[in-house]
Amino acid sequence: MYVNWKEKIDENQLNIISKLIQEGHIIIFPTETVYGIGANAFDEKAVEKIFEAKGRPQDNPLIVHVSKKEQIYEITKNVNEIEQKLIDNFMPGPFTLVLEKSDNIPDIVSAKLDTIGVRMPENEIARTIIEKSKVPIVAPSANISGKPSGTNIEDIKEELEDKVSAIIDGGETKIGIESTVVKVIDNIPVILRPGKVTPSEIEKVIGKVKISDKIFKEAKENEEVESPGMKYRHYAPKTPCRLLYSSNEEEQVRLVNEQIQINDNDVIVLAFKEHVEKINIEKDKIIPIGSIKDLNTVMKTIFSALRNADKKNAKIILIEGTKKEGLGLAIMNRLLRACEYDLIEK
Ligand code: TXA
Ligand code: MG
Repeated sequence: MYVNWKEKIDENQLNIISKLIQEGHIIIFPTETVYGIGANAFDEKAVEKIFEAKGRPQDNPLIVHVSKKEQIYEITKNVNEIEQKLIDNFMPGPFTLVLEKSDNIPDIVSAKLDTIGVRMPENEIARTIIEKSKVPIVAPSANISGKPSGTNIEDIKEELEDKVSAIIDGGETKIGIESTVVKVIDNIPVILRPGKVTPSEIEKVIGKVKISDKIFKEAKENEEVESPGMKYRHYAPKTPCRLLYSSNEEEQVRLVNEQIQINDNDVIVLAFKEHVEKINIEKDKIIPIGSIKDLNTVMKTIFSALRNADKKNAKIILIEGTKKEGLGLAIMNRLLRACEYDLIEK
């Protein structure tokens, strides 16, 4: 079943969709970050279907989505003062908090950890579906495991439509990158996955914040990590990708042009819109990724750009990087992993 809720939510279709969730089916639905594949968090069999559909490793836990704050305390326990402050300030929104889980959440959701990630989306469609289904909904990003996340239905339809019972089209997602994942460790919020909610925003509220040192490191196969998602290949197109960065904008453009030559023009370039004219290649080999002056626009376009670039079957995808601060932290985290850490920095 496909429904178009870009303009408004249809009540009859909403009834059908909430029944599908209650009966153990899985669905694709929008959130403000990226699209998710959702199932009833209490239904082990339904959750299993998500792992199967995505080809997701069993030891990578899922985020549980709620529609109201009361629900958080039904699925977690021992929320401390700092965690409560984070809930008060960042939910609803593009923010996931790892909390001690209560026993009603099946082990498959948490991948046997004693914690779960909890998120309250701001997106109206997401919250309405959770509310109407009367259960919390687990949802990883809607993409085959390892591929870029989906920010619009067109991008993910082909790879997932046969595997789900309903697709809810809410148009382009507002933010475009997955939520910031935070775990409070020894009373300090630690960012396990950077996102739209930045370290300085968290620092303003709590007074201190740490960024996990694994964010920019390639984790080894059997390494202990705070967040299992850190150790998997991620966001990667089939085509090899190379990230190019310099703190000097002109130097960065020069680096792009040099790499175009080295690779005999058999490239696709993901470039900031301000640089398109300065890049020496046919314009149909350039995919603009928003403005270097407004990283929100880059966040919004990056996953779709990676997917489009992959369709062109070039030898390599060259990608312009940005500084690893503020929103740039999340963007560079995704891009470095898409490039499997192939970075040229000058
Ligand atoms: O924006 C988002 O968070 C999207 C939308 C659909 O809500 N969801 C999403 O889910 O990105 P997923 O499954 O693609 O990513 C979840 C991340 C993984 O890196 C996972 O390892 C981490 O959160 N995670 C989940 N539960 C955790 C836990 N208990 N402890 C540590 N990390 C956890
Ligand atoms: Mg994901």
